[in-house]
Amino acid sequence: ESAFHGGVWRYSDALPFDEGVSLPEGDTPLHNVPRLEDEIGVERLRVKHEGMNPTGSFKDRGMTVGVRVAQEVGVGRLACASTGNTSAALSAYGSRAGLQVLVLLPAGKVAAGKIAQASLHGARILEVDGNFDRCLDIVKDLADRGEAYLLNSLNPFRLEGQKTIGLEIMEQFRDEEGAFPDRIVLPVGNAGNTAALYKAFRELEATGAIDEDQIPKITGVQAAGAAPMVEAIEHDWDHIERWDDVETRATAIRIGNPVNAPKALPGIRETGGTAIAVSDEEITDAQRSLAEEGVGVEPASAASIAGLRKLREEGVVTADEQVVCLTTGHLLKDPDAAAEAGTDPEPVPADTDDVLEHLRS
Ligand code: F0G
Repeated sequence: ESAFHGGVWRYSDALPFDEGVSLPEGDTPLHNVPRLEDEIGVERLRVKHEGMNPTGSFKDRGMTVGVRVAQEVGVGRLACASTGNTSAALSAYGSRAGLQVLVLLPAGKVAAGKIAQASLHGARILEVDGNFDRCLDIVKDLADRGEAYLLNSLNPFRLEGQKTIGLEIMEQFRDEEGAFPDRIVLPVGNAGNTAALYKAFRELEATGAIDEDQIPKITGVQAAGAAPMVEAIEHDWDHIERWDDVETRATAIRIGNPVNAPKALPGIRETGGTAIAVSDEEITDAQRSLAEEGVGVEPASAASIAGLRKLREEGVVTADEQVVCLTTGHLLKDPDAAAEAGTDPEPVPADTDDVLEHLRS
């Protein structure tokens, strides 16, 4: 198998093309986390670590397909609004394809690693005096005016690539455990993954690969300071109401107007899933718990574990469940958040005796 046919492109039967600009992406690990499994109290817990993709997040799965489509359409400039990871992935895949990339970022609210990636991969980076949702409003306008090809998750081809997260989870979990997971818990921002997972499972059902009752319960987690999807699920609304003021340490999901809500809300409801909000403190605790198992993630990713922990405490998730938590981005994406959550380095003199004395004190 060539690199082009591993990972995401292994599922080309489910994709609009047979191959694309690839680094390559997908084939991410499904970690066991025995201590967390015990502590949270579910029959089985696995962590699908999407931070292990080439640019460090699941966005690569969407971009390999999205940029391929852009090449097909023959556009000049690719653009996205981003809380960071989309811009990193678009910059890498766009550059590899030899295309111009424009990214709009909310000023002061994007983690350092992500800006560094967009910068080195050669994107033109605009820092907007406004939040992510305003950036996306502007990029949509630019696309409408024919100034750019939009590669946010509003672009349905992005979600085609991201479906492969669901396909991989089903295969890996079944191969290891002999059954499919009961539930998938994931962080929700623009709700692209939520929509993509649901589409993947409905397609598996349509081909007869799984029965309807084997579709995992799609369970979304948002930061309490940016939780319009949770609000909509709690009130049983068929739409979301945009939050203009959003805040969370998990800057990747600092989003008040999840544009994929119309596809994602039915995905949560019709699979018997739910949505829950978690505090920044709960997110940080979960980030530390994952790190103790050797799994390094950025804050937004840890929301999945924080949400599962809370749902288990509330009895919504039961002890007999087999659960997969999705961790969406790598620890190094947000080095400042990691350093804040972790321990501080201790300065010592350059002398062995002094070092020993320091260790004993
Ligand atoms: N986790 C991480 C690390 C993300 O970067 C994002 C979205 C999400 C979760 C939420 O995923 O939008 O499919 O619900 N980041 C986008 C970006 C918005 O610009 O990088 P979603």
